[in-house]
Amino acid sequence: MSVPTFALIGTGAYVPERVLTNEDMAKIVDTSDEWIFSRTGIKERRIAAPQEQTSDMATAAATIALRDAGLTPAQIDLCIVATLTPDLLMPSTACIVQAKLGLPHHTACFDVSAACSGFIYALETAWAMLQSGRYRHALVIGAEKLSTVMDWTDRTTCVLFGDAAGAVVIGPTPAGSTASIVGTKLYSEGENTELLWIPGGGSAHPHLGPGVPPRFMQMKGREVYKFAVREMEDAVRDILEQCNVDADEVDCVVPHQANLRIIDSIAKFLQLPPERFFVNLERYGNTSAASIPLAIDEARRGGRIQNGSLSLLVAFGAGLTYGSALVRW
Ligand code: UT7
Repeated sequence: MSVPTFALIGTGAYVPERVLTNEDMAKIVDTSDEWIFSRTGIKERRIAAPQEQTSDMATAAATIALRDAGLTPAQIDLCIVATLTPDLLMPSTACIVQAKLGLPHHTACFDVSAACSGFIYALETAWAMLQSGRYRHALVIGAEKLSTVMDWTDRTTCVLFGDAAGAVVIGPTPAGSTASIVGTKLYSEGENTELLWIPGGGSAHPHLGPGVPPRFMQMKGREVYKFAVREMEDAVRDILEQCNVDADEVDCVVPHQANLRIIDSIAKFLQLPPERFFVNLERYGNTSAASIPLAIDEARRGGRIQNGSLSLLVAFGAGLTYGSALVRW
């Protein structure tokens, strides 16, 4: 009896209308286009409107992914949202998306918290649940309204991030296709919490006020940079070994869109030319859990990811967490 395989059968993305350029940033904090672009590769990012919530962006991306997969909401029985900026602490953003999309009541809906690695974590979770045989079609969404957790007086963080959403539909491999999720690999380093965190606003410091840590993202950029290069190398090496794939067989690497210099060092490590890497961070900055699904959708629509080709996804983020996945389209 053949084991059923599951594939990414639809993708979608959404970005807010408002563009904030590096020049605009220089009017908010003491920075410059030259500094931001040369250190990160970012030129501009999107900022959601006040009334536009994470669940709205997630719903917009998911609607496009469902249409792309040729499915209706009634055919979805699993919905996972990866986010570090949920609409509310309770209930999950996935439940809010369920109501907005009209997903059936037998759909399992929950959020995954793994920061910028969240999409890979959610992908692995959905894949395992589908392989259990108890679910058939999953929506996996990465969505962030990071502009709400930025300290807009801190130039070391606020220039880096943006708002967006990306979504994929995972379902049984269509007849006649070789598409499938080939493998996934997840890691965490919980001892490094304070390198990248939002210290206030959770149960440790629920009440904001004088002397209490703020509900803003704080980061030791240098250390996170070194961690990202070191561990993304491990993540790509391990997934290639695990799936018995040579780096050269990978048609398109879709890395977490945080910093072009980090992506360049992964390209050198894999000994792959830069053309094999999909990069859109110059237009969106770092959109955390939305970064990879947003990039995947653009890469597919732009012809950089073709049916039959092999993609390597790799991410790192707060936790610290990191992970990788191989996907045949
Ligand atoms: O999804 C995971 C999210 N995290 C990341 O991706 C972060 C990974 N780290 C990085 O990408 C880089 O470390 C940064 C882009 C954050 C910073 O680049 P860097 O080359 O590591 O710079 P640095 O932090 O060592 O700062 C160098 C200088 C400092 O000034 P001094 O002390 O040398 O006088 C900073 O104060 O640059 C200054 N600086 C800025 N200057 C202008 C820091 N931020 C800015 C800014 N504009 N926005």
